[in-house]
Amino acid sequence: MKTANNSQNIPFNEAQQAWLGGFFAGMHSHILQSAGSGDAANARTISILYGSQTGNSESVAYDAAQLAKAHGLNPNVLSMDEIEADNFIKLEYLLIITSTYGEGEMPDNAQMLWDAISSDDSIDLAQMHYSVLALGDTSYDLFCQAGIDWDQRLEKLGAKRLYERVDCDVDFDDAAEAWISNTIPLMADGAATITVDSSKTSNAPKYGRKNPFLGKLVTNRLLSSPDSSKEIRHYEISIVGSGLSYEAGDALNVVPVNCPELVSDIISAIGCSGDEDEPVSGELMPFTQALSEHFEIKLPSKELLEEIAKRSGDQKLNNALSSGDKDKLASYLWGRDTLDLLLQSPEMQFSAAEFLALLKPLQHRAYSISSSGKAHPDTVHLTISSVRYNSHDREHKGVCSTYLSDLANEETAVRCFFSPNKVFRVPEDNDLPMIMVGPGTGIAPFRAFLQEREFRNAKGVNWLFFGDRNASTDFIYRDEIEAMQKSSVLGKLDLAFSRDQEEKIYVQDRMREQGAELFTLLEQGGYFFVCGDAYRMAKDVDKALHDVISTQGSMSEEQAAEYVNQMKKDKRYVRDVY
Ligand SMILES: Cc1cc2nc3c(=O)[nH]c(=O)nc-3n(C[C@H](O)[C@H](O)[C@H](O)COP(=O)(O)OP(=O)(O)OC[C@H]3O[C@@H](n4cnc5c(N)ncnc54)[C@H](O)[C@@H]3O)c2cc1C
Ligand SMILES: NC(=O)c1ccc[n+]([C@@H]2O[C@H](COP(=O)([O-])OP(=O)(O)OC[C@H]3O[C@@H](n4cnc5c(N)ncnc54)[C@H](OP(=O)(O)O)[C@@H]3O)[C@@H](O)[C@H]2O)c1
Ligand SMILES: Cc1cc2nc3c(=O)[nH]c(=O)nc-3n(C[C@H](O)[C@H](O)[C@H](O)COP(=O)(O)O)c2cc1C
Repeated sequence: MKTANNSQNIPFNEAQQAWLGGFFAGMHSHILQSAGSGDAANARTISILYGSQTGNSESVAYDAAQLAKAHGLNPNVLSMDEIEADNFIKLEYLLIITSTYGEGEMPDNAQMLWDAISSDDSIDLAQMHYSVLALGDTSYDLFCQAGIDWDQRLEKLGAKRLYERVDCDVDFDDAAEAWISNTIPLMADGAATITVDSSKTSNAPKYGRKNPFLGKLVTNRLLSSPDSSKEIRHYEISIVGSGLSYEAGDALNVVPVNCPELVSDIISAIGCSGDEDEPVSGELMPFTQALSEHFEIKLPSKELLEEIAKRSGDQKLNNALSSGDKDKLASYLWGRDTLDLLLQSPEMQFSAAEFLALLKPLQHRAYSISSSGKAHPDTVHLTISSVRYNSHDREHKGVCSTYLSDLANEETAVRCFFSPNKVFRVPEDNDLPMIMVGPGTGIAPFRAFLQEREFRNAKGVNWLFFGDRNASTDFIYRDEIEAMQKSSVLGKLDLAFSRDQEEKIYVQDRMREQGAELFTLLEQGGYFFVCGDAYRMAKDVDKALHDVISTQGSMSEEQAAEYVNQMKKDKRYVRDVY
């Protein structure tokens, strides 16, 4: 276990460099006057802890470390689960960069440290100087709650806030850059600073969030049956010529283009033509292009919602907004998108510029890669459920899932970039058991894991818990799974098709049925992976895991929780949930 005291000044490995994206490139314009970085041994150590589920906060942490080095500091970047509470409470200079997950919750890698620090009021952090950068998304009710919680907790325990917390929305780069530029000099507090070494920025990868690569979509095939109540598709995107590679467990982010019909319906609804020239990130472009490629137009931003409420005078919307009752607002909004809200008050008009000012930037969507980079070095496979539903007398479509299914074709260059996931990995030890729980599209990374184990000729037991609605229509990758069973790559398979019988059967029911064997494999050092729905499935699977350990290991609830925590610390219980 790494601690703050034994992993000083860790070098940037390839994955960490990859996280830097194009972000740091903008930062070398901050020219800092100095005599030099000085004696590294005497440099002040600052700890930069990140709580991150999909790597954004981690990437910002490494950006902060670059600038800290340039200021003559000794940055120690750690995931929050790499530091014990006993070491945490001794820290003197601390930057916390954390995202928020679930419904206002900590990311997985921050939970244990948070539990320890938030449950002990006797902790005294008088020696600590800190600042918090919170990453989040204003479309969630509890915006940046994890960062807010850390900020308030540290203050309550006596730590000195050196710089006000900054809460970042999805387009966090500028705010994060400003926070880094402001906090690092305060952490240095007179320590020698140097001119940022531009050679450091030259290692930045070619592609990233700000500079996605253009991948050719070479395969788009229906996985679920045409009779299924859902549409799950298999995609392959070529990375030939990009110089890029990936690992099983990584995610690919896809930058979508909005549906052309939705764009033109919105333009008509607000009384524009679409030809208006509008500036977007310093470039002048037609309104239609701006809406197609640069802005989120499906789900309304809070600003747009408030403006529509004001202009339309819609009583229900105004009541939902002013009540402060988030459930009321959520239930009003459920199934309604921006166009529905505009169509409710057809007299409401906006100029193109007014409308753009109320929108959020169009975000990429993450997808767990369903292929092994070793078995498929030239392509990235994705397993995606197309979001389609009918409400308010209109067909509604998810932006990115249907961009890939309906719009992209073999001529389309899909804008993408990778998100490495350092902890969601096939165990290095080929003999250790791997238990994978992945219903629905949650199967994606486990297809990759199984390919990886086959490629390595690994002998450890592989056990998959999979399920979906109906076996006859939703048993995706069935041929591959059965072939892997035959060749013994897949040692054990437990299926839970929820709608094939009156009573719902879920993967966690199968886990309970197989409790004894599951516990035996955990006792042998087995890894336990979960992927798929975060809100219901992952919570219930977590509960089932605790129950199995408690029952089979004859442990109290507390002992089972301790057992699970140790698995998390050992990175043997890891999740990729969304
Ligand atoms: C790390 C990570 C990995 C992921 N991996 C995968 C994966 O492997 N496969 C996969 O399919 N997805 C995956 N996802 C989810 C994926 O990123 C997208 O969220 C998903 O594809 C939906 O995006 P979209 O743009 O199509 O829909 P959006 O345009 O984002 O619309 C989704 C929204 O539509 C609304 N909505 C959806 N259904 C209904 C309904 N029935 N009634 C009313 N409103 C509704 C909800 O507000 C919902 O939030 C992953 C997410 C993360 C964070
Ligand atoms: N919170 C959400 O809004 C939410 C939830 C799920 C999925 N999604 C999104 O929907 C898309 C497709 O999801 P998906 O294809 O992965 O399938 P899914 O909708 O997650 O369903 C897969 C299987 O999981 C079952 N399931 C439902 N509740 C469960 C629970 N508490 N425990 C265990 N299993 C449970 C489903 O059964 P039944 O449907 O028969 O109950 C189904 O058999 C993804 O983009 C995902 O992000 C969103
Ligand atoms: C499933 C899920 C739940 C989220 N919940 C919240 C939330 O409750 N509040 C919030 O502000 N942001 C929320 N976010 C947004 C993330 O915090 C945001 O995308 C952040 O940039 C992720 O950073 P990371 O990659 O370091 O984890 C959520 C994102 C996902 C995918």
